[in-house]
Amino acid sequence: MDTIAVVVAGVTGRTGEAVARAIHQTSDLRLVGAIAKNHGGEHLGARWSDSGLDLAVTSTIDALSAPPSDAVLVDFTEAESAFGRLEWAIQRKWDVVVGTTGFSQEQSQYLADLVERHQVGAAFIANFSIGAWFLERVAIEASQYFGQAEIVEEHHAAKRDRPSGTARRMQELLAQSWKRNLDDIPVHSIRLPGLVAHQTVIFGSDGQSLSFRHDVHDRSAYAQGVVQAVRKVHSLKGRVINDLGEILNDH
Ligand SMILES: NC(=O)c1ccc[n+]([C@@H]2O[C@H](COP(=O)([O-])OP(=O)(O)OC[C@H]3O[C@@H](n4cnc5c(N)ncnc54)[C@H](OP(=O)(O)O)[C@@H]3O)[C@@H](O)[C@H]2O)c1
Repeated sequence: MDTIAVVVAGVTGRTGEAVARAIHQTSDLRLVGAIAKNHGGEHLGARWSDSGLDLAVTSTIDALSAPPSDAVLVDFTEAESAFGRLEWAIQRKWDVVVGTTGFSQEQSQYLADLVERHQVGAAFIANFSIGAWFLERVAIEASQYFGQAEIVEEHHAAKRDRPSGTARRMQELLAQSWKRNLDDIPVHSIRLPGLVAHQTVIFGSDGQSLSFRHDVHDRSAYAQGVVQAVRKVHSLKGRVINDLGEILNDH
């Protein structure tokens, strides 16, 4: 069977590890590279107690021992280092699946232009869980009937960006639907130990409110969306997908 070579950046992280394990367990994907800033030189098989996995972790992408000519880079790290890593990968005509959030608008636009210039496939998805995507669908539907909403996003205390990429995207979708400015849809960010990733959208009109909530209890929630995205971007040319629906509904 033809397999797709995948390099995961952030392989020791909360999300990157769940995603990398799912990739390793998927028969048409082949985990060929593992990147983590502070774990260069470690052996991923030993870390996972998986004697069948012979893969060294490197701290940078250019330290990969045998970079494949054709691969998909999956990135779950932080925006500052991801930017250079994505540039490196796209310039080598690798496709990219990006879960990392916190890029500026200029950075996102620059990377989208690079994707087009090098004719690779890309998915920049703020949230790879089916529940978050469905929350977007119902919120867009509700926005046809309500004229005001606020977003409450709650995450673990170590999350770096605020508001979350998921909340920013919800803000953009509602702003588009209502043809308003982003600032007209307030976002409340909560960072506390014990939380994982949670988002509530509250619509209000005279005498009533309507709340939709999505909870991620475990990062395995993101794994299947990423696996499907890897397959999808590998057949794309020069385009960025931002809507998980385009990947989930691709049968
Ligand atoms: N799109 C989605 O569905 C989704 C879902 C969840 C999270 N996220 C996003 O994914 C990102 C990671 O979140 P997380 O909670 O998993 O973070 P985390 O637990 O802090 O893990 C970060 C990972 O990135 C690595 N890393 C950090 N800086 C690096 C650098 N300069 N070079 C190479 N590797 C580096 C870390 O390596 P070390 O362990 O060696 O430090 C670690 O493996 C965040 O941007 C978050 O918002 C997206």
